[in-house]
Amino acid sequence: TMRKPLVAANWKMNGSDALARELTAALATVNLVNVDVLVCPPATLLHTLASTEQCLLGAQNLSQYTSGAYTGELSASLLTEAGVRFVLVGHSERRTLFAESDLVLAEKMQQAIAHGLTPVYCIGENLQQRQQEKTGQVLAKQLAAVYASHPEFIAKSVIAYEPVWAIGTGEAATPEQAQQAHAEVRQQLAQYDSKAAATVRILYGGSVNSKNATELFGQPDIDGGLVGGASLNAEEFLHICQSAK
Ligand code: G3H
Repeated sequence: TMRKPLVAANWKMNGSDALARELTAALATVNLVNVDVLVCPPATLLHTLASTEQCLLGAQNLSQYTSGAYTGELSASLLTEAGVRFVLVGHSERRTLFAESDLVLAEKMQQAIAHGLTPVYCIGENLQQRQQEKTGQVLAKQLAAVYASHPEFIAKSVIAYEPVWAIGTGEAATPEQAQQAHAEVRQQLAQYDSKAAATVRILYGGSVNSKNATELFGQPDIDGGLVGGASLNAEEFLHICQSAK
């Protein structure tokens, strides 16, 4: 495929300096030429991974503001200075636990792209929405919030489809469910820019592990994964990376 797979680790508020070193060492033992590996550790661990050539570096969040009196926040330029090239935007935990609205997320996307960061824009339906057969609608709304006014952002993004009911539950979407949603996302994006929709990488996230990764990543519209829990074990994460080709 023309889309190089990307496997991303999202450590969330977990990990340690020791894990960062362990992962770097583990990645150095294999030759992962056909897959991009991205690690998004907590911000205090970015420096440990910043100089490694074994993986790309990402942040888990950024501020919607450029600079100023925003105690505790990290701007896009602070992140780029720390060696960061990717940033998660709109992870479901940010949307729900920290009440990040579509409006704020659109601003964060602007900030990321304006500073040359590649945003990994996270979308996905919750269980109730799936049961009510609103998945397509929810994805369309989350995509429209960013890309309707900025179709040119598609080519500069990575998308992560993460059904909320599959996050941290051990209950991954089936390859068929995931493929269907990914195809839907690509179709939605094609309304805004058909060329970019064909080339943008769409990652699957939600209870990915070394056992289910190969089949998930083998689906035609799944271009890799966003891995939470299973990325906290270097060996396991390595296996997941090796499942993407
Ligand atoms: O960003 C990662 C996702 O939230 C998935 O987390 O692999 O622990 O289910 P999980």
